[in-house]
Formats: sequence, structure tokens, C-alpha cells
Amino acid sequence: MSAADLFRTEFGADPAGRWFAPGRVNLIGEHTDYNEGFVLPFALPQRTVAAVGPAPAGEWTVCSTFEEGTVRFGDTEPGDVTGWAAYVAGVVWALRDAGFDVPGARIALDSEVPVGSGLSSSAALESSVLTALVDLGGLDLPVERRPALAQRAENVYVGAPTGILDQSASIRCLEGRALFLDCRTYEVEQIPFDLAAEGLGILVINSNAPHQHVDGEYGARRKSCEEAARILGVPALRDVPLDGLAAALEKIDDDVTRRRVRHIVTENQRVLDTVALLQDGRVRDIGPLLTASHASMRDDFEITVPPIDLAVGAALSAGAYGARMTGGGFGGCVLALIDSDRERPTTEAVEAAYADAGFTAPTCWIATAGPGAGRL
Ligand code: GLA
Repeated sequence: MSAADLFRTEFGADPAGRWFAPGRVNLIGEHTDYNEGFVLPFALPQRTVAAVGPAPAGEWTVCSTFEEGTVRFGDTEPGDVTGWAAYVAGVVWALRDAGFDVPGARIALDSEVPVGSGLSSSAALESSVLTALVDLGGLDLPVERRPALAQRAENVYVGAPTGILDQSASIRCLEGRALFLDCRTYEVEQIPFDLAAEGLGILVINSNAPHQHVDGEYGARRKSCEEAARILGVPALRDVPLDGLAAALEKIDDDVTRRRVRHIVTENQRVLDTVALLQDGRVRDIGPLLTASHASMRDDFEITVPPIDLAVGAALSAGAYGARMTGGGFGGCVLALIDSDRERPTTEAVEAAYADAGFTAPTCWIATAGPGAGRL
């Protein structure tokens, strides 16, 4: 059922409007966001849609196609609402906490973004609701300030210590572009990213591998990076340039922390190099950077799992220019840069490798860069 149909069924009226926000794929720049570094995501055509209508002031009622029943809340504080509706309540809370007069609303949600696959279904949810409430209430909240509010909903209300990558992608991406974001200044550059015109495609391989201990591991990586920045006397690892890496590593005793630092510093540089190549029109040449990013996540940041490494290996053996895990890690999706006419054989190679290993079958599709959040 669509979000609008659900709205009519639950609330017996037409919605005032429908707003959407997409999931994302991060082309490169993993775990660099909370280190105030660089990321390069693009928005997926898969999106979350919020059908929204007015309600009395101070009242919010939410329902969704992904779970039965409605959730109601009023003056809300972190901890009041749990489960998927916490992402909605968190957005209302973050807006109000920032001083906005958020209109009461009835909200019906539907989503095409697969949950738990590292494609930012939670950011799509937050961003669709945020965009709807801002429009509906005529709130004076410029687009560039919106991701930080959605991130606050997730960090403080939901309690997940994520960075600003996902919400920025869902809100600020443009069709046919990759979003080069500086996570310290929030400045962006929209990088042309029309791969089909070059005879290329990004094959997304959803490993369908269950996430395990994700929250704890993510938080642990974040802590290591913050501890390393403290040891090095810099505000964030962003401030360690590639040519200062060797000297920085000498100041850190612990081998694990040293490898975490090496990932972040080299990954930031790979983002910059990828952007430079794309701006030069040398798309195929970003392949080795993608593959190097994967090796760094596997060996230094230690956030990959066997099905993910297998998908990368199988895609490369089938002739991909480069391949890497995308997203927070410990499962989720791999992306591979391939010639458009290699979609079938690459998919088959990954499927065969998964079948041989006894893993759950993967799901593969070619991803194109869609638009960021807006009104339908
Ligand atoms: C998750 C988080 C993001 C980012 C990525 C890793 O998607 O939500 O903030 O840290 O992991 O790049």
C-alpha cells in the first residue's frame, strides 16, 4: 500500500501532501564523517515517502506500512518513543529543541529502502519527515542546516552515535551528481556523476548478511578515532594530512589505534583523489581507489565480514574496475564499478561465489544517482 493510501485508510482524509527522501550509496569516504573529513555519496532512486496532513497543535500521530498500528505522541523527550517511530519523534523533538514551532501532524510512511542493508533507511525516514514538517509549517530552516538536525534526532533521541553522511546525502544530493561534502564546514560540491553516459554502472550488491554487534562496533571505532585525535593533539583526525601520517603513527603506541588512524587519513585522501579524477572525466580510473578503500576497511579499520569480502573479490575477478563495501560495515552492501554490459556476468559471478560458500543469496542492481529529499 502507498503512503497516501495508508493515510486515507488510517485518517479518513486525503493528505495535504507527500514528501520523499532517498536512501544513499556512499561512493567513497567511510567513517570519515565523524572525523570531520570528506565523503562522496549519491542518492538512490529508492526512497521513503511521507504522506502528511495537519493535526491539532502539539499532537503527532504516525503509522507506516512496515508495522501495524499507530503511534501517538505530544511533548516528547528522548526515551519516550521507541522502535521505528523514534526516528519520527526524534525529528519533531530536534526541531522543537532548536526553537521551531513544529506543526501538529498526521504522518503515514512507506519505504522502498531496504532496512538493515547499510543504505540509510533510517536517514531516509528522518529526512522525509523533516522535509514534510519544514514545508508544512513554513519553517525557516535552510537546506544546508537540515542534515545536522536530522543527525541530532538520531544521535540524541534514537541514541545511535552516527555522523552526518547519511542525512546529508538524503537531503542534499542532486540527480546525476555525487555529493562531495566537507563534514567539518558542511560545504558541498555537486560532482557530475552520469555513469551510463560513459558506458559504466555502479552495481550494488546487497550481501543480505545479517548485521551483528553493529552498534557496539561503530561506537568503538568512533571512540578509537577520538582517542587518537586526543593523543595527537588535533581537533579531529581530519587534521592529520597524508604527508604527516608517518610522524603521527610514531606518537601512537597501540597497534590497533594506529591502524584506525591510517584508515581515516588515507581514506580522506582517496576521497579527494576520487573527486579530482571524476572532475577530470577519468571515471574508470577511480576503480583502484575504491578497491584500496576496501582493503583499508578490511585490514586497518576491520569493519568488513566474510560475505562482503567475498562479493568484492568475486566482482573484481569478473572484471570490475574497482569494488568496495559501502556504509557503516559488518554486513550491508558492496558497490562495484563495471562496464554497463557486464551487469549480468558480474551478478552471476557473485551469486555463484555465494552459493559455493553457503551464504544467503545476494541481491544485485545497477544504482543511478537520484535526487535528494523534496515534495512529490
Ligand atoms: C553509517 C553512519 C554514517 C557513517 C557511515 C560510515 O552509515 O550512519 O554517519 O559514519 O556509517 O561511513
